Amino acid sequence: MSEKTFVAVAKLDEVPPGAKKLVTVGKVEIVLCNTLDRIFAVRNLCSHAYEKIDCGRMKNGWISCPVHGARFDLETGQPINPPAVMPIETFEVRVEGDEIAVAV
Ligand code: FES
Repeated sequence: MSEKTFVAVAKLDEVPPGAKKLVTVGKVEIVLCNTLDRIFAVRNLCSHAYEKIDCGRMKNGWISCPVHGARFDLETGQPINPPAVMPIETFEVRVEGDEIAVAV
């Protein structure tokens, strides 16, 4: 069984409630989202036509794709409405002190 590696990507105060922040780990773009009193991390890649989602609306635990409007659950990555039918990739998040780390 391989251990996940948590990589520090941002300070907690860089992602206040209701905000998002785009970070990069290696070549992977990850959108950090502060909603529902916690931090979520999802890949900056829509499962529909593979557009970036970091400019989409984000609230109440979901993010919407700015291109065709699919919304995704930030916890599971599952689509909430069409046209997307596949989930987006999600990452485990750990907040240690004032640092946000994601499992990659
Ligand atoms: S590319 Fe995101 S909904 Fe179409």
